[in-house]
Amino acid sequence: MQIKNGIDLIEISRIKKSYDTFGDRLLNRIYDKSEINVFLKKSLVAKAPFLAKNFAAKEAVSKVLGTGFTKGIRPKDIVIKRKYGGPEVELKGKAATFAKEIGLKHISLSLTDTNYNAAAVATGIFEA
Ligand SMILES: CC(C)(COP(=O)(O)OP(=O)(O)OC[C@H]1O[C@@H](n2cnc3c(N)ncnc32)[C@H](O)[C@@H]1OP(=O)(O)O)[C@@H](O)C(=O)NCCC(=O)NCCS
Repeated sequence: MQIKNGIDLIEISRIKKSYDTFGDRLLNRIYDKSEINVFLKKSLVAKAPFLAKNFAAKEAVSKVLGTGFTKGIRPKDIVIKRKYGGPEVELKGKAATFAKEIGLKHISLSLTDTNYNAAAVATGIFEA
């Protein structure tokens, strides 16, 4: 078994500014439908932190993959799900195909935020 971490830290105001400028275009370019549905139900104050935490998570997972957003791996193919015990990751498209190729079996994810920043740590577990 091998383990690899990915971390990301982001200013919430940066994501808020993007959303205020691009609105649905930002949502549809970066986030999966399931994430957008959760976003739409959030209160106004919780909206930007939610987008920022999910974006940090996508970048953290892209570092576990070791690709960043290259090789056709798109932020919207790294889907963040909020579950009772904590967030989970579902990979789609090229991200899922690539994860299989490199033997990535599971990703554990942890999120946090303050009034200003959002951060994510992703830990990938690889088959030996
Ligand atoms: C990996 C990636 C996600 C990091 O993005 P970033 O926010 O600019 O950079 P961060 O400060 O969070 O991280 C930089 C660190 O990540 C690590 N890193 C860089 N590329 C990496 C990769 N492919 N895999 C794992 N870690 C990587 C490095 O340690 C780097 O620090 P260093 O240069 O001092 O060694 C970036 O390569 C990328 O693909 N960015 C695309 C961003 C983008 O297009 N955003 C718009 C939405 S589509």
